Amino acid sequence: MNDHKVMSSVLDVDKIRSEFPALTRTVHGKPLIYLDNGATTQKPLQMIERVRKFDAEEYGTVRRGAYKVSEYSTQLYEEARQKVADFFGAGSKSEIIFTSGTTQAINLVAYSFGKQFVKAGDEIIISNIEHHANTVPWQVLCEERGAHLKVIPVNDEGELILEEYDKLLSNKTRIVAVNHVSNALGTVNPVKEIARRAHSVGARILVDGAQSSSHMKVDVQDLDCDFYTFSGHKMYGPSGVGGLFGKMELLEQMPPYVTGGDMIMQVTLEKTTYARPPARFEAGTPPITQVIGLGASIDYMNGIGMDNIAEYEHQLLEYGTKCLEKIDGLRLIGTAKDKAAILSFYLDCVHPHDIVTCLDQDGIAVRGGHHCAQPTMIRFGVPATARASMSFYNKTEELDALAESIRRTIKIFS
Ligand code: ALA
Repeated sequence: MNDHKVMSSVLDVDKIRSEFPALTRTVHGKPLIYLDNGATTQKPLQMIERVRKFDAEEYGTVRRGAYKVSEYSTQLYEEARQKVADFFGAGSKSEIIFTSGTTQAINLVAYSFGKQFVKAGDEIIISNIEHHANTVPWQVLCEERGAHLKVIPVNDEGELILEEYDKLLSNKTRIVAVNHVSNALGTVNPVKEIARRAHSVGARILVDGAQSSSHMKVDVQDLDCDFYTFSGHKMYGPSGVGGLFGKMELLEQMPPYVTGGDMIMQVTLEKTTYARPPARFEAGTPPITQVIGLGASIDYMNGIGMDNIAEYEHQLLEYGTKCLEKIDGLRLIGTAKDKAAILSFYLDCVHPHDIVTCLDQDGIAVRGGHHCAQPTMIRFGVPATARASMSFYNKTEELDALAESIRRTIKIFS
């Protein structure tokens, strides 16, 4: 395409790239073109340095020590919680629970909300385009409680069919669990409207934000979601940390998920009483360093501006879509009107795993497979796709290179 002028200068991408050491790597002798941001994002120097400084100079346990080192570490830990709360527009930092990531956060809600509120004959609604982390915990819950799982279908573009959703909703619905952005297709779901309809029948809603949290401004109060989940390693932060926003009125009614130290009010050998949220859901020593790192990655994203990030990534999506649409034999899987910067595609003549291997030879990192979303693949009649998922540090030149490498791959296999 070679028309880089179509991109606005909303971001100084060269400066941003200079802050990500990983982007200077070479792979098979070629400069790395990193397009697997849906799986995990690379890390800015500011976050790396914050983690180094904390571990080297400030590290201590949290919530347990009445000495300076621990008090300071606890202060930093709680400041990070406040940053997360502000980032997602939560009313209070007590509504933010740190977990190991989205998967654990959804499991927490399925277990704990399920134990308190779901009984035999109740219904839970998910969609046909959830990843397994937002599918399997609900299946397990339904099996255990004798509840029923209902699924919102999608059209051929990968958009939820809201008229069908309406038909599934009833006074038996206890919770609706949908992603904000589909990891396999890029569809941005109208979660505010989905929440409004869930609430109209008295149901609750969990929004899986794994793929939205670092790509757009999220305001949990505006969306009016009851739960929202996120993963630090997809937000330019460390792996092993993420979390859950939950409305306090719900969290207060929910039993613990994991038990042990730090989540208690009092323990005797006969009986234990539990702490209020968020401590009730943070048993044991938490991922202290990772939480501090997540706070730093949030500072970093705020420095760029979430609206700028969303605008730039949308331009990348439009550019990349045009590049890929010109390739004969390439089928884009996921063509919703409202999409995040994810390009999932299928070639009749090359298995996605082979595409990944060939692109890797050109230094291009994309994911190939079912993306932990097998029901989505089944819906679109493909075993797997190759997926390029973008970030604000990607450039149009990299999308040109992607298209060129796909063309070379097609030639090898035809
Ligand atoms: N859910 C992550 C992905 O889409 C792992 O790659």
